[in-house]
Amino acid sequence: MKVTVVGAGAVGASCAEYIAIKDFASEVTLIDIKEGFAEGKAMDLMQTASLMGFDTKISGATNDYSKTAGSEVAVITSGIPRKPGMTREELIGINAGIVKSVVASLVEHSPNVIIIVVSNPMDTMAYLAHKSSGLPKNRIIGMGGALDSARFKFRLAEALGCPQSDVDGMVIGGHSDTGMVPLIEKAVRNSIVVSEFLSDERMQQVVEDTKVGGATLTKLLGTSAWYAPGAAVSSMVQAIACDTKKMFPCSALLEGEYGLNDLSIGVPCIIGENGIEKIVEIELSEAEMTKLHTSAEGVKKTNALLG
Ligand code: 2OP
Repeated sequence: MKVTVVGAGAVGASCAEYIAIKDFASEVTLIDIKEGFAEGKAMDLMQTASLMGFDTKISGATNDYSKTAGSEVAVITSGIPRKPGMTREELIGINAGIVKSVVASLVEHSPNVIIIVVSNPMDTMAYLAHKSSGLPKNRIIGMGGALDSARFKFRLAEALGCPQSDVDGMVIGGHSDTGMVPLIEKAVRNSIVVSEFLSDERMQQVVEDTKVGGATLTKLLGTSAWYAPGAAVSSMVQAIACDTKKMFPCSALLEGEYGLNDLSIGVPCIIGENGIEKIVEIELSEAEMTKLHTSAEGVKKTNALLG
């Protein structure tokens, strides 16, 4: 399987690295606009192959989409990351134009490509990709919920004082500091709901810490995070490549599901060789559904900025 990663910055390069180490793809093509940058990152990564034990071929190209031809999956990480104190939504002015042209270039050379959008504001960028490409809705997926759920599990394990492998939880809704909906009522520790172990106050703190997980890191790092975003999107690529039918919360174009229409927002999806195989409508409490709809209003407001 051939995978293209657009944007050889920290997130894109981390994604390429994790894909290579997991060794499920035959080749990864890194693309960037900065002269030589993708080629350099690819060569540096290839020089880890004998050390990390992978056979995946990683190559780089400077803004030459002919090198992406025949990609089954393409990950879009290009665009500017946010700076401390910025919201993801503030990136729309610059990133919308980049994402639109990248989508067109990818589809031109790989008409059957499945696109995973990472660039922020991600839900709106995914919506833009749907509208500008006209691809079937199962072939455009926004990556946000997989990352936010990983941060949710990190915070749950921290609160419970247990290994992350003991907890499970999902974040749906918009990939934004205010719009995320960590499903705390459904989160478990070894199949037991976490409300058996945590006070309401502590659970609320977990929810709040999860929602600002990205901003917390941006403040510490001076730029957006990259390891967990790269790992999250590489897991989705693997689900497509290996047709695992794994369920992830992904930003998917809704046409009535959860009572929502004409937006891309984080909901549980089954991911496989066809991209989004199925949008899963789980039972939400009244409070959870209200939060999801409020989140959707925020996403639609950002979508409106696309003009
Ligand atoms: C994050 O939350 C980059 O949006 C991504 O770290």
